Amino acid sequence: MIFTFSGTGNSLYAAGVLAETGEAVIDMAKCCREKTFSFTPAPGERVGFVFPVYCGGVPSPVRYFARRLELTEEPEYVWAVITCGAKIFAAGGMLRGLLAERGVILDAVFPLKMPDNCVTLYELPPEETQQQTLADAERELSVLKERIRAQELPDDAPTLADRAATAAMYPAYANMRSVKKFWSDDSCVGCGVCAGRCPTRVIEMIDGRPHWVHDRCARCMACLRCNAVQYGTKTVGRTRWVHPALRKKKHAHG
Ligand SMILES: Cc1cc2nc3c(=O)[nH]c(=O)nc-3n(C[C@H](O)[C@H](O)[C@H](O)COP(=O)(O)O)c2cc1C
Repeated sequence: MIFTFSGTGNSLYAAGVLAETGEAVIDMAKCCREKTFSFTPAPGERVGFVFPVYCGGVPSPVRYFARRLELTEEPEYVWAVITCGAKIFAAGGMLRGLLAERGVILDAVFPLKMPDNCVTLYELPPEETQQQTLADAERELSVLKERIRAQELPDDAPTLADRAATAAMYPAYANMRSVKKFWSDDSCVGCGVCAGRCPTRVIEMIDGRPHWVHDRCARCMACLRCNAVQYGTKTVGRTRWVHPALRKKKHAHG
């Protein structure tokens, strides 16, 4: 089984590629909503985690899920592939610590560079660069598939510098999770797709427009996939990232 979390499709796509035939891909945000935290790996089954790094650490739904996870049988091998725009810093160590508290030993952490999606912070790289990153990721995914199948035990402990970077960056994630600056512009047609995409269900449609009704979200960029959704003034006119596998299923307005 593979537990995944994804805002803009990179990690979801990677989880799909890494899933062996018939291996279940389980959405951690949905598990959090439905309070499903107990799973029974079959004899010899491997358990994986695929999610993005946020501010050098783990996204809030991954943290919430990992803190409650109960594996009723010991898995054969536990691995994590953490997607990133540049570097995962000590996110693997953070997950390892959370899982250890639940009696789960994380055997291997593999970083996977994928296109950056953090449009609220900066202008994303040009489409050609993102496409090149995707092509490189595709090759790396084939390698990772073999490394996971071989149940490799890489020397993946975060360096001191990575741990220092995470310690400096991760507290900022808590502030970033405020929903105060989200709004929809006049191109919003009130379709409600953003509300349906929000993994933490903080968006409600009121009088035909989205409203961010809770204080904090996971800051996953899923709602920003629609060009009518804005974050302060920073996102106006900026191209948003969504993995091509999700673009195919794209709604007319997002
Ligand atoms: C709030 C936030 C924080 C991020 N922090 C980092 C980071 O610390 N390092 C990094 O390399 N990429 C960072 N990224 C980029 C994402 O990890 C990367 O684009 C990821 O593949 C997105 O996965 P997804 O499409 O499955 O949501 C961040 C993205 C977001 C939204």
